[in-house]
Amino acid sequence: MADIKHIFWSLLLGGAVLGGLPIASAHAEDDEQALMARGAYLATAGDCVACHTRPGGKPFAGGLEIATPKGAVISTNITPDPQNGIGAYTLDDFEKALRRGLRKDGAYLYPVMPYVSYAGLTDQDVRALYTWFMHGVQPVAEKVPETQIGFPGNIRMSMMAWNMLAESEKPETGDSSTYDKLRRGHYLATALEHCGTCHTPRNFMLVEQQDQYLAGSQLNGWFAPNITPSNTGGIGDWSEDDLVAYLKTGHAKGRSQAAGPMGEAVEHSTSHLSDEDLHALAAFIKQVPAHDDDMEHQARDSFGTATQEPDLRSGVVHRVDDLNELDGPALYDANCAACHGANGAGTADQYVPSLYTNSVVGSGRTDNLVMTILEGVNRTTPSGHVSMPSFGSHSDVQRLSDEEIARLVNYLTIRFGSGDHHLTAEQVGVMRQPPPVPAVAPAAPQGAAQPAPPGHT
Ligand code: HEC
Ligand code: HEC
Ligand code: HEC
Repeated sequence: MADIKHIFWSLLLGGAVLGGLPIASAHAEDDEQALMARGAYLATAGDCVACHTRPGGKPFAGGLEIATPKGAVISTNITPDPQNGIGAYTLDDFEKALRRGLRKDGAYLYPVMPYVSYAGLTDQDVRALYTWFMHGVQPVAEKVPETQIGFPGNIRMSMMAWNMLAESEKPETGDSSTYDKLRRGHYLATALEHCGTCHTPRNFMLVEQQDQYLAGSQLNGWFAPNITPSNTGGIGDWSEDDLVAYLKTGHAKGRSQAAGPMGEAVEHSTSHLSDEDLHALAAFIKQVPAHDDDMEHQARDSFGTATQEPDLRSGVVHRVDDLNELDGPALYDANCAACHGANGAGTADQYVPSLYTNSVVGSGRTDNLVMTILEGVNRTTPSGHVSMPSFGSHSDVQRLSDEEIARLVNYLTIRFGSGDHHLTAEQVGVMRQPPPVPAVAPAAPQGAAQPAPPGHT
């Protein structure tokens, strides 16, 4: 699936658009062209394809099931097919869906659709997106199943209460391509890229806490870390260039790599942004208010060094028949050393990264280290493909048990990271089957449901 999407984006964005936003010209035809190109670029920045395409499905034809505490919300077909998609939407209808979370028939959309963020889009950019969706996207005549939320009646009406609690972005004004660097960065981060959807903690009503913007949040087994400029809890030690490299390639040497949901955000969205926009985004992130972190007391990427002492273990990959007998170092030798090196240094070019000065291993939370081992890494961007096998239940190389993963993780964090976190097999077991928490955004608030009016489904 990932590859199909990648090919799609390469075709779509090849050349012209990536050079930066085209400026509107005096001619009507050029205007239309410019609007189309701008719309295509904005759709990438807003990562519409991530949610509106099911695995193996046609781009934007919907059908992806997105987990929420109330059950799966199914994304809709937003291709211009008049029966099954949004072909019958006027610009006005489209604007209401995008910025206010209202469907054409007046029903409230579940806030899995990030309209709270898109509310910040300028009128001009809404129009560019509309023009591109109507004329640049292939119509797909496929009906997606209706979302069935397991709740008496359904909870679309309760969205009204949620919307009153959630603070939407205020629409920006003017031509977003002419903004200065920080304003452009703010616009990209809040209205389009919705970084806060994953990185900002939510209150008990599942509304993003704006006073904790980007301070870190749990995400289906993964943890979207604190990315405020705190020197201990966040990424205060990253330069603007580090952040640009990370968002462009998914890899900031000697600091961090993007796997799981961040790998997808990089693959489908940030790796396709222009360098100028990436710098704007990075400059904005670097100046949001810093928040320290209860679980992190030293920069995550600052632990461990390349030691000169000879590695006492051979680095030879042992053939072992009963992995249950193995302790941390032996599990490492048998499963990881072939790629990450006997001493954890990775490869010379860092295609395989070192495990010291690695934010996932240095973090005070072991969540992302466990998830990386369970799920592996698989990311394709214009700068290439990276992959690490999964060691979880569907592994093609070697399945590791909860007990083995716990032992391996405790060993790795002592050897290369921030110390012993006493991770248990039970904790790994829970992460293997993540609880049904929101995948990317909240569903309805608990207890706020009201009966739906007749006719609204
Ligand atoms: C995080 C996931 C997510 C992202 C990103 C996302 N959407 Fe959605 N969108 C949804 C879901 C889920 C629904 C259906 C919600 C429902 O049924 O209440 C939806 C519904 C819609 C609708 C209403 C269509 C209809 O009639 O049901 C439109 C229009 C739309 N999205 C456009 C967009 C555009 C344009 C973008 C990118 C700028 C985008 N979406 C990005 C999840 C997403
Ligand atoms: C779909 C959810 C999601 C979105 C959207 C998202 N992130 Fe992330 N982000 C994550 C997760 C999960 C991780 C941890 C990934 C890992 O450990 O491999 C992460 C990791 C990061 C890191 C590495 C931090 C570290 O200490 O290693 C940075 C930097 C980052 N994200 C920046 C951003 C920015 C900037 C945006 C908006 C452009 C963004 N993210 C959007 C989920 C998300
Ligand atoms: C076939 C080679 C290979 C094997 C085997 C392998 N890795 Fe990796 N590992 C990689 C590559 C490639 C990356 C991704 C680099 C990137 O994202 O740019 C990676 C990334 C990582 C990361 C960083 C993930 C993140 O989100 O930041 C960690 C931690 C890691 N591996 C640990 C392990 C452990 C523990 C094992 C053994 C259970 C292991 N690896 C086995 C190749 C491998």
